[in-house]
Amino acid sequence: MSETGTEAPHDRTQVPRTHVIVFANEKGGTGKSTTAVHVAIGLASKGARVACIDLDHRQRTLGRYLDNRAATVTRAAIDLVVPVHATGDGRADGVFPSLYRDFTDGYDFLVIDTPGRDDPAARIAAALADTLVTPMNDSFVDFDLIGQVDPETYKVVRPSFYSELIWDARKARAREDGTTIDWVVLRNRLQYLEARNMRRVSEALDQLARRVGFRIIPGLGERVIYRELFPKGLTLLDAKEFGGMGLSHVAARQELREMMAALALPDVGATQAA
Ligand SMILES: Nc1ncnc2c1ncn2[C@@H]1O[C@H](COP(=O)(O)OP(=O)(O)OP(=O)(O)O)[C@@H](O)[C@H]1O
Ligand SMILES: [Mg+2]
Repeated sequence: MSETGTEAPHDRTQVPRTHVIVFANEKGGTGKSTTAVHVAIGLASKGARVACIDLDHRQRTLGRYLDNRAATVTRAAIDLVVPVHATGDGRADGVFPSLYRDFTDGYDFLVIDTPGRDDPAARIAAALADTLVTPMNDSFVDFDLIGQVDPETYKVVRPSFYSELIWDARKARAREDGTTIDWVVLRNRLQYLEARNMRRVSEALDQLARRVGFRIIPGLGERVIYRELFPKGLTLLDAKEFGGMGLSHVAARQELREMMAALALPDVGATQAA
């Protein structure tokens, strides 16, 4: 029951076993959908029961990615895991509550992708997360959403509105069921050529992490392959489909594995045995 005494459509206490992973950043184009699809397929290929909700009903990148994957299975007659998925309708009180209920019943993981803008359902989704992943590029433009820095010293002056929004989501969640949301800032599209900028962003992130309490993990490198896989709905984890892999693909798979490990999600066996 919610604090108001009405039925809570998102009452998590009834669905303790589905681990909810939400990809969220109101800044567009930071790699939410690309990382979400890789995480969903990575978990499913390890045998987890995975469901996905795409709350970006306009772009529907995650949904279309998985549709393309299902079409590849039919067209090429190959066996690929395709997580079940559905799309929101842009409203908090539209289809989302029932999708959330259905997809936290009998699944180990629910992966929710959200739009790169303020969205009512995405706000609710953030508060429902067990793991909240905010991908950001190594840029002070992206950083500005979560924290503001001094223009001379690059030291953090204050958290920005998005950190405050997540802070509020965490408070709401702690009140509701005493759970802590694991907020993870994922440094995405890393380009090691830009060492000075990387170091500055890194220092600012460390300061802000201590202040507002998120973890920082490495994400995907900047690689053309991540842009090319979409039409077939493949990921770098679909080893067989790649035949002989070049060195850069091997490195990319390794960074994917490291990203998955750093997310520190529950073991598939553990969620199924619970
Ligand atoms: N690691 C990467 N290397 C190269 N290109 C990438 C990488 N990650 C994402 N991209 C590309 O960057 C663009 C934005 O990625 P994506 O759609 O995943 O971001 P998003 O945060 O979901 O965007 P939006 O806020 O618009 O939903 C896409 O063209 C995608 O192919
Ligand atoms: Mg997206």
